[in-house]
Amino acid sequence: MNTFGNRFRLTTFGESHGPAIGGVIDGCPAGLAVDYVLLEAEMTRRHVGAHATTRHESDNVEFLSGIYDGKTLGTPIAFIIRNSDARSSDYDALDKLLRPGHADFTTLQRYGIRDPRGGGRASGRETAVRVAAGAIAKMILNGKGIGITAMASCGTPAENDSIGGTIECTIEGVPAGLGNPIFDKLNARLAAAMMSIPSAIGFEMGTGFDAAQMQGSEFRDNWCVSDGHVATTTNHCGGIQGGISNGMPITFRTAFHPVVTIPQPTECLAPDHTLTTVTPAGRHDRCHLPRTVVVVEAMAALTIVDFVV
Ligand SMILES: Cc1cc2nc3c(=O)[nH]c(=O)nc-3n(C[C@H](O)[C@H](O)[C@H](O)COP(=O)(O)O)c2cc1C
Repeated sequence: MNTFGNRFRLTTFGESHGPAIGGVIDGCPAGLAVDYVLLEAEMTRRHVGAHATTRHESDNVEFLSGIYDGKTLGTPIAFIIRNSDARSSDYDALDKLLRPGHADFTTLQRYGIRDPRGGGRASGRETAVRVAAGAIAKMILNGKGIGITAMASCGTPAENDSIGGTIECTIEGVPAGLGNPIFDKLNARLAAAMMSIPSAIGFEMGTGFDAAQMQGSEFRDNWCVSDGHVATTTNHCGGIQGGISNGMPITFRTAFHPVVTIPQPTECLAPDHTLTTVTPAGRHDRCHLPRTVVVVEAMAALTIVDFVV
């Protein structure tokens, strides 16, 4: 529900306008030197970007446990990131109203209660916690020669509107043999990781949906062996076959729909099931893709590290 991973586990907590968001990492090996420069750089990548919210959070990660003298202890690593620039009054008009396209209605159906301020738990703010944990995962993976890079592709949002886009990610240095053949496929885990990011709407590995139009002779990745190293001449499958990594770069793309809270008259659902038109206030991303690149990398790191610790 709020925990990701089996061996390297991240539990996240906190709402967008509560005092803090945070996480607990369990299963991080002892003795890892914490690279605070990398951590801060990753946090900065998430909170700046073109067309981003004007909410300014310092996103300082405060560790409460699990680290001593700059090294991990092997015990649970708990941390918080304070919400210091929340402006909850922006949500007064939306207190009982449910926006179209957001998680307001479904959250209410699930729990019977919700925190309307800033999207509560469904806010993109929660992804800051994943980035902090992902930075720790990356520190482990860097030591094993595994590198993760992603990039966004999106258009320019129109005046008072928003736009979505896609983020392409490549994981290099993953040895052949990671993953499982049936219910715990590496590609299935990556899909679950990516689809857990708010506003993710599609996922494809390698050539992805285009492969549905290809012939088998085009699609199959032919062998090429040099100096005893087994590789393939193409990588249509995205580096995973039968749920298990084949040693080629792992490549995948995630599509994100546009942010739905836009400063335009919006028909919201009232408790008596009437529609009320309001123009939502609040500082929303017009396109969150540039900020979400590091979130994709963090979720990829959390997925891979779970197989290698
Ligand atoms: C980094 C990031 C920032 C986001 N910012 C906003 C925002 O400012 N306003 C908004 O309505 N949705 C924003 N979203 C999307 C919502 O969080 C998301 O649409 C909502 O949780 C509903 O989930 P779903 O779209 O996956 O169904 C953001 C998502 C991410 C990843």
